[in-house]
This record gives sequence, C-alpha cells and structure tokens, in this order.
Amino acid sequence: MFPSGFAWGAATAAYQIEGGWDSDDKGPSIWDTFCHREGEEGRVFAAQNGDVSCNSYELWRKDLQCVQELGLTHYRMSLSWARLLPDGTTGTVNPKGVRYYNTVINDLVACNVSPMVTLYHFDLPQALQDRGGWKSPDMATLFDSYARFCFEEFGDRVKLWITINEPYVCAKLGHEDGSHAPGVKQPGVAAYLVGHNMLRAHARAWHSYDSLFRSKQNGAVSLALNSDWVEPLDPASAGDISAAERFLAFTLGWFAWPVFATGDYPPAMRSAVDAQSARLGYGGVDSRLPGFSEDEPALLGTADFFALNYYTSRKVRSRGGGAGGDGVSMKSDLDAEGVLDPSWPLCGVSWLAVVPRGLRNLLGYIKETFNNPAVYVTENGFSQVGAVEIDDVQRCRFYHDTIMEVAEAIEDGVRVRGYFAWSLLDNFEWADGFSVRFGLFHVDFSEDGRPRTMYRSGREYAKIIAKHRPGPNADKGKAEKLL
Ligand code: GAL
Repeated sequence: MFPSGFAWGAATAAYQIEGGWDSDDKGPSIWDTFCHREGEEGRVFAAQNGDVSCNSYELWRKDLQCVQELGLTHYRMSLSWARLLPDGTTGTVNPKGVRYYNTVINDLVACNVSPMVTLYHFDLPQALQDRGGWKSPDMATLFDSYARFCFEEFGDRVKLWITINEPYVCAKLGHEDGSHAPGVKQPGVAAYLVGHNMLRAHARAWHSYDSLFRSKQNGAVSLALNSDWVEPLDPASAGDISAAERFLAFTLGWFAWPVFATGDYPPAMRSAVDAQSARLGYGGVDSRLPGFSEDEPALLGTADFFALNYYTSRKVRSRGGGAGGDGVSMKSDLDAEGVLDPSWPLCGVSWLAVVPRGLRNLLGYIKETFNNPAVYVTENGFSQVGAVEIDDVQRCRFYHDTIMEVAEAIEDGVRVRGYFAWSLLDNFEWADGFSVRFGLFHVDFSEDGRPRTMYRSGREYAKIIAKHRPGPNADKGKAEKLL
C-alpha cells in the first residue's frame, strides 16, 4: 500500500520541546515574551511557559532514543531562529545554537533517520517583533537571509525543508484573535497583512534555495498548511455550499492558491473581503487583503511538495450576511460558521473531533485542485486531556484508522509520500500549556529529568512502521526520489 521510501515520521517544534529559553546566548522569541508577560492572566493555561518544557536542549539524546524506539524513518523538527540568530539577523550568529542543531542533525543522519526541518514554527525572534514583526514588509528579506543561512549550514544533510509552519495559525491566532504570540488583536486587518508577508517570505526563501542551493544539495522545500476538511451542513442548501467553499478558501486556499494554483488569492476569498470592505465603508476595495506585486518574486510554483497538517473536520453553514454585525473582522468577511457533527467523537480539546475519513477527503481535494502534487502529511494527532492514560487505546484506534485512510488515499491515486504523527513527545501545547498531551511518549514534567515513557499508541505506531518500512539497505529515502 505504501510506496517504497515512504516517510514514517513524528514531529515536534523548537519552542514546544526545547526549553533552554535563555541558555547559551539564545535570544528571546515572541513566545518567551508572550508567556512571561505579567498581569495578563489567561493567555496561557495556568500561566505556564516553555522555559524548560521537555528540556530537549539538554536531553536531545533521550529524544533520539524515542525516535529509534519508534523506528521512524524521518523526524520533523524546527529550528529556533533566536537560538541561531539572537537578534534575528545574520549579523549575530550564535555558534552554540549552530552546534546544537548540528548535533541533532548529525545524530539523526548517523541513525539513518532523515530530518525534515521547519525554519519557522511560531517563534519569531523578539528583536524582529520589535521592528514590526510579520506585519512589516521587511520580514520577507529578513526571513530570506535566515533561510539562506540555514540552507548553507545544514543543507548538506537536510533534504526536506519547511519554510513556515501554518501561516494561517500565525496570522489568525497571533494577529486577529491574539490568543497566540505576539498577542495582537487587530481584527480584519493584521492577519491578512501577516499572511501576505509570510507568503512573500516563503517565496523568497524558495527562490533562494532554487537558484543557490538546489543543484548541490538536491533537497525539496515547501510550507506546511493546516486545514480542516469541510462539507456543507445542508448539502441541499446553496448558501451552505458556497459557505463551505469560502471556509476552505479562507483556510487552505488562502495560502495554497497563491503557491499551487494561480499565484493569487482564491477568488472566493478576494471577493468576500472586498465586498465586505465596501459594505463596511472600509477605506476602499483591496485595502485589507493586499495584492501581489509583479516586481516581487513570483509565488506560483514555489513548493516542491504539498505539506499538510490535518487534525479535524467541520460542517459549515452560511451566516447569511448575519456576521456583518461583527464589524471589520475575518469572521464577518468569511460569513460562514463551522460546526461539529454530533456523531464525531471529541478527543480532549473542544476543537478536535476525530474524523480520520476527513483526511482522505482532503487529500483527494488537494489532488484534484492542485494538480496532483506529491504530499507529505506533516502533522496529524490525537490529544489527551486530564488523567494520563499510558494505555491510550483511543489514540491507538485513531492512528490505526487514520493511517488506513492514508492508504486509501494512495489507492485513490493521491501521491502521499509520508506521514508525520504529532507529536513525538507530550509538550507545551501553546495556549493550552501542558494541559493537553499529544505525544507518542508521555513526558513527566514534574521531574527534573523529564522522563519519557512510551504510550501504548507509540508501540502500535512502531508496529505499523515495522510492517511497512523498507529494510536497512533499501532506499534511504532520498528526497528527490520521493517527489
Ligand atoms: C498545530 C501546530 C503544532 C501543534 C498542533 C496541535 O497547529 O503546528 O505546533 O501544537 O497544532 O495542536
């Protein structure tokens, strides 16, 4: 069912696992600032932070052991920009940060595990936030310099790169809702600007890789896009059908259309934002969702594969214009609402309904809409809240069912090249702190040594991998063969 060289992976992100927030000359990131800000209770569950978290900065070899116990062929990790470049610019390189990631990457390669490396997973250096952060157009150049630095340092061994993880989440949660760092709440304006600059930054980095590094490094570069699978709540309602289309346009389409389809935002998004701007008398059409300039590097074609983070599904209904009362906001532009089907079981958190079939549907949609690209499922997982269950039978079932759906998608002709479980370890789950556990390994955060214990789901995942992964001398998963 799974092609030879299929990537069997698990994923993590720097701020969520590393700790060492100010160790060895690391600069602060916006998540350090967000979590440390006093007097604004309620930003993060129980005022927790990632200062120590799994302490992977000191305990990396324990993580490596976990990777090996699972038998992963690939490990997806992110680099802390502020650990490498404390003020965000290549003017100040932190050699200790470089050494740390070299150790991690070398260890993985020595164990025959291919790293997939994310350059940006939510943790902007605070120094760059102080210069305007992602709202500033300068971010495209700053990100490009950082990306080139990383390609130069690590690209001889890293063959799969993700520039930016979930630009949707950075833009929406970080700049519309303010529930993620940097905690900006400028509804209906900032998120579009941030998303735009993230796309520009991604495009520059991809072009840099393409022109300066690809011929000697032979890797592949993309950006990781999150999306729910959506269906109209009432399949017979024209309003719900177009609401579902809009919903997808405002999440996956926002970033996928420019890169994979047309070089521009999806028409359903453009027309909704422009119409609402006109209706609300907001400074003229095209004033909130920016347009792409012809003087900049083109967006279309700037991904060598499709990287998808899938967690859940939604039924979508139209709000029939009723959202206009929310004023200038993404909610009012979208004018649609996602609801849960009561038959879908929830896992821990309120947003995460368990719908493995949605992944197959979404993969099918990607195949049809974006010309059948090679796809990596770069995140997918199941959360546990409350009492810890090492014997996590529900999560076992979840992984089993979801991986079956991936196999079905492959049968359907989708070119799925890998699957990464979120996450290797229980970790700092952003605004939910440590209250939500996504790991294949349990981490005891109350003990200094942060002991890792494999969940039953880790054992089950390891069995699935063992059944499907090629032997030690087979194809070593070279990126170029996987696309
Ligand atoms: C994603 C994010 C991960 C992880 C996961 C589970 O949005 O990329 O860092 O937190 O969600 O909520």
